[in-house]
Amino acid sequence: MQMSKVKSIKKELEGNLLSPLPIILVGALVNGHPNYLVIGYISPFDFGRYIFFSLYKKRHTRTGIHENKTFSVNIPSENLLAETNICGSKSGRNFDKGALFDTFYGKLETAPMIRQCPINVECEVTEILDYDPNEGIIGRVVQSYVDSKCLTNGKLDMRKVHPIIWATGGDFNFYKLGDRINSDES
Ligand SMILES: Cc1cc2nc3c(=O)[nH]c(=O)nc-3n(C[C@H](O)[C@H](O)[C@H](O)COP(=O)(O)O)c2cc1C
Repeated sequence: MQMSKVKSIKKELEGNLLSPLPIILVGALVNGHPNYLVIGYISPFDFGRYIFFSLYKKRHTRTGIHENKTFSVNIPSENLLAETNICGSKSGRNFDKGALFDTFYGKLETAPMIRQCPINVECEVTEILDYDPNEGIIGRVVQSYVDSKCLTNGKLDMRKVHPIIWATGGDFNFYKLGDRINSDES
């Protein structure tokens, strides 16, 4: 492929440019009740054996994560945009976000997961880093789940998940996943 020799002009820009990222609903059991919040700053590491995310100390969900040392990661589809917006704007302190979804539990029993989300991961907390006013929450993946309707020939097919993609770095809009562009059509 011929690369363009035209030099682009670079501008300095503040903010996170490791973007876009999938919108995630993190779940925790707070005082025995499921609560879910939107987390945009989240990443797998150690080849997906662990998940790391950034949590403000003032979040209601934090109480449950500290109490049980467990949490869940749920990937909402586009059809859950309205519920996702509620989870990212209302606090479980004064709004029952658990009532928005059907909750199920896996091996950990204290990490509530959202049945309507096609992908769910339950994690146990291995480390909490203090980055006041945030915390870095690190969890070991205990078990992952996927809706069978999102599989093609037994393998996960992201085209069937329809995740909500969030751009940062000043854009701050939600997007759809685009077309597959590698040549392997299997
Ligand atoms: C697009 C988006 C991304 C967000 N990312 C984070 C995040 O990474 N960390 C965080 O603590 N809050 C984040 N929030 C804010 C929380 O989801 C929001 O304050 C929520 O209402 C807190 O709920 P809780 O008090 O029940 O825990 C995000 C919100 C939106 C809309």
